[in-house]
Amino acid sequence: MKIRKGVITAAGWGTRFLPATKSQPKEMLPLVDKPIIQYVVEEAVASGIEQIIIITALGKHAIENHFDRSFDLEYALKQKGDEKRLQEIKRISELARICYIRQKEQLGLGHAVSVARDFVGDEPFALFLPDDLITSEVPAMKQMLQVYDSYGCSVIAVEPVAPEKTAAYGIIEPKQVEERVHQVLSLVEKPNPEEAPSNLAIVGRYILTPEIFTLLEKVVPGAGGEIQLTDALRLLLDQQGIYAYQFQGTRYDTGEPLGFLKASVEFALSRPDLGTEFREYLRQLQLPD
Ligand code: UTP
Repeated sequence: MKIRKGVITAAGWGTRFLPATKSQPKEMLPLVDKPIIQYVVEEAVASGIEQIIIITALGKHAIENHFDRSFDLEYALKQKGDEKRLQEIKRISELARICYIRQKEQLGLGHAVSVARDFVGDEPFALFLPDDLITSEVPAMKQMLQVYDSYGCSVIAVEPVAPEKTAAYGIIEPKQVEERVHQVLSLVEKPNPEEAPSNLAIVGRYILTPEIFTLLEKVVPGAGGEIQLTDALRLLLDQQGIYAYQFQGTRYDTGEPLGFLKASVEFALSRPDLGTEFREYLRQLQLPD
């Protein structure tokens, strides 16, 4: 079945980015001059996703405004004769068919996914966690869709991490079936290095079969009342195969300040209009030890 719908979960508090996220969504923080969530919407569109469902929450209106038309701004740019920016602003509002659903209480990623149930219906869908930005020649989700086409099962994106970092991720027990593709034998949430079944960490791109919604209802909330997606994936594994795909590309964790900074620097360096001057600036910095 063709994957037509993409869900982007953007309802989290973003506490690691306080105070910046006290009154604005972390998904709207810019990498250079483009908000994080726009990169993710562009990835979804470039992967062939036709309809996007963004899960938002109180205080996240800026996301809706960003992808909407702004006639006043368009008029102002037109008056100024700034045709380039005018076209870019229009392009953003025409990027994709987007609808928004509010998660009324931030009860975890699993809960955020479950509120998309009525909109997704009984079909497999793509899930994007916008904290994870992936740059690649072929969009990461497009790569995953090819794996889905071959196996017809849920697919989760994985990335090798340093063994001492396993406690920060969901880790899979893999059985390799082809280059970059593993059958998932089990999933362990945040294991210590000595208990980790591998160093393949789950990152923020998934293709999920619709059975996940029924299973999310069965998940017992953990600490803080949060419903974990990994718990539902574990239940799914009892019923169906799940495959893990080691995507080709570079992932940045923009949900925490260091990852965000690294992404900002690298994105700026790769910009044709800024890169040369910025590189020169970085070279001249007298970095203390
Ligand atoms: P995180 O665990 O990174 O939480 O969520 P967070 O709230 O966004 O950030 P911190 O930890 O407070 O700094 C992973 C993904 O799940 C979404 C987030 O928006 C992010 O895409 N999420 C999380 C929700 O949509 N709703 C929730 O209740 C929790």
